[in-house]
Amino acid sequence: MRKQLVVTGLIAGAMTLAFSAPTFAVDADAALSLARQNGCLKCHSPDKHKDGPAYRDVAAKYKDKDHAEIVKKLIHHITSGEKAKFPDGHEEEHKIIKVTDVAQQTNLVEWILSLPGGKWPETD
Ligand code: HEC
Repeated sequence: MRKQLVVTGLIAGAMTLAFSAPTFAVDADAALSLARQNGCLKCHSPDKHKDGPAYRDVAAKYKDKDHAEIVKKLIHHITSGEKAKFPDGHEEEHKIIKVTDVAQQTNLVEWILSLPGGKWPETD
């Protein structure tokens, strides 16, 4: 009887741990090749500003914000064709990613947000 209680307690404890630390298991290789296939890297790089911000700087920009909200916002950003402002001041619709699979879109966004070493406002 006692032993069973301990085991139940352990399982509950493990579950709390699993659900209270929502770290996404990012597949960085898949994210990078998806970005490459979609031409994202023409305007972005993980660590350098091109026409668009360096991905690690995007991570820095949003690091203190509600993570789940930002994942949603960035998926919207890459799927809706919302206006994007370029360094020369002109605006055009942001590139829309070709895949409709939300799991792949999420992996790409989570990868971007996981990149370390960025600064916001950008410095390069
Ligand atoms: C033609 C150039 C171009 C391409 C291609 C492009 N982007 Fe961007 N992207 C931009 C620019 C410019 C901005 C800055 C938008 C702004 O601040 O208004 C931006 C911003 C972003 C941001 C930051 C949004 C934010 O809220 O700060 C992310 C994330 C992003 N792009 C991801 C992607 C992904 C993923 C792809 C490929 C599917 C992609 N971009 C393709 C130009 C591009």
